[in-house]
Amino acid sequence: MNAARLASVASGRPLTEHRILFFGAGSAGIGVAKQLLSFFTLLGLTEDEARSRIYTVDSKGLVTADRKGLQEHKKFFARTDYEGPPLTNLTEIIKYVQPTALLGLSTMRNAFTEEVVKLMASINTRPIVFPLSNPVSLCEVDYADAIEWTNGTVIFASGSPYAPLTRSGTVYEPGQGNNMYIFPGLGLGAILARAAHVTDAMVETAAIGLAEALSPEEHSAGLVYPRLTRIREISAGIALRVVRAAQLDGVAENAPLEKLSDEHLLDYIKAKQWEPCATHLPNGSTLYVKENCKHAISGNGNVHRL
Ligand SMILES: *[C@@H]1O[C@H](CO)[C@@H](O)[C@H](O)[C@H]1NC(C)=O
Ligand SMILES: *[C@@H]1O[C@H](CO)[C@@H](O)[C@H](O)[C@H]1NC(C)=O
Ligand SMILES: *[C@@H]1O[C@H](CO)[C@@H](O)[C@H](O)[C@H]1NC(C)=O
Repeated sequence: MNAARLASVASGRPLTEHRILFFGAGSAGIGVAKQLLSFFTLLGLTEDEARSRIYTVDSKGLVTADRKGLQEHKKFFARTDYEGPPLTNLTEIIKYVQPTALLGLSTMRNAFTEEVVKLMASINTRPIVFPLSNPVSLCEVDYADAIEWTNGTVIFASGSPYAPLTRSGTVYEPGQGNNMYIFPGLGLGAILARAAHVTDAMVETAAIGLAEALSPEEHSAGLVYPRLTRIREISAGIALRVVRAAQLDGVAENAPLEKLSDEHLLDYIKAKQWEPCATHLPNGSTLYVKENCKHAISGNGNVHRL
């Protein structure tokens, strides 16, 4: 969501006109693509229109509906509007699709070659390139290459962590598209709400809550994810939205939480967040994560709950 906004500001083209190319049509790729449908439907597109904005590529090339023996999970996004010979080369596929965003869920190291990334930069003011395969040894393109080949215009997030880098005096910060941003808040919210099960709306609101959690400083730094130093605050905010979504879906069994204002519910959630107190270092000394933890450590070195 944040990457699409940044790219649309740069190109002047509306959010509804994004075209997203998934390189990797396994269950992860298709799952992410289906979740992304709501990005478009929330903007007012019908589900069919939303689906038409998404293209999938597997080891045989662009996934089309006329392909023989197409696996069941690939049918949903299979294109019915392409009639030429099978498109197997990623460069050729990008020339045909003209995507604004290229997402990698292929586990194919360096699949986004210099030619591919430069082509994305030539057709987009700010290309979105997300090599999401984990770990770095399976990542579709390294951050430094993506910055170099796009002259710094890339909007980048990877599944694996990359360090910020400096090029011609400008500092570039990569995003990390990782479920660590979502799962703590989703889990905490589900537990505190005593949700009978986790609904799609709970997951969706967690994703939207994350996208909306950027501070003004993070926005002006051009980030697509909030800084990890704020993960506790972000997770509490996500848990709040998850509890509310569970209540709306009628799966929340912790009824008293319904009467709390958002402000009080957030206080309640923060009070329930587990907090590391101290940790024992390999050299035998104790590192106090918080200064007021000291009184909670007993003489024998055991750490107690505050
Ligand atoms: C794909 O096609 C381009 C030309 O459009 C070519 O430069 C490239 O080598 C091809 N890639 C593969 C893997 O064949
Ligand atoms: C690369 O970006 C810089 C500004 O960041 C710009 O001055 C330069 O002209 C760009 N080079 C090319 C080849 O686009
Ligand atoms: C143990 O390691 C920590 C962190 O490196 C250091 O601050 C501390 O002084 C060390 N303690 C001793 C007793 O060497």
